[in-house]
Amino acid sequence: MLELTRDEVTKNGVAVLTHFAEPSPPVQTDRVQLQQVILNLRINAVEAMSSMREEARQLLICTEKEESDGALVAVQDSSPGLALKSVDRPFEALYSTRVRGVGIGLTVCRSIIEAHGGPDVGRRE
Ligand SMILES: Nc1ncnc2c1ncn2[C@@H]1O[C@H](COP(=O)(O)OP(=O)(O)OP(=O)(O)O)[C@@H](O)[C@H]1O
Ligand SMILES: [Mg+2]
Repeated sequence: MLELTRDEVTKNGVAVLTHFAEPSPPVQTDRVQLQQVILNLRINAVEAMSSMREEARQLLICTEKEESDGALVAVQDSSPGLALKSVDRPFEALYSTRVRGVGIGLTVCRSIIEAHGGPDVGRRE
């Protein structure tokens, strides 16, 4: 995914940092669906950082082996993030603060992550 999106990320002046677990933890997954998750998060990150000055745009992608059989994948950006009052909303279908956003990216990510036995992302008790 990094290779596929490198041009787009570079064009937007984003520095990419990676920190991968060695050896790479083996996971059984639907490759295309997992790529979709990373792609959506990466697009969101680049968009979230677009109003920042270029030197401050950083995307961090890391993997860690979990104590159980799983792997943890994190995609982190250096944008100010979400206002506290709307922190629950991004995973709602059709919630978008972008002019041309549909508001479906994170909804799709969540269903893929849950289908792979991942955590209940964005759900509050
Ligand atoms: N990395 C991020 N930093 C800050 N806010 C974010 C980030 N990712 C998502 N958001 C917020 O969550 C909203 C929903 O994200 P989501 O990916 O579901 O939809 P979208 O990006 O607006 O549209 P699309 O359907 O094209 O993905 C965004 O509009 C934005 O307000
Ligand atoms: Mg999106």
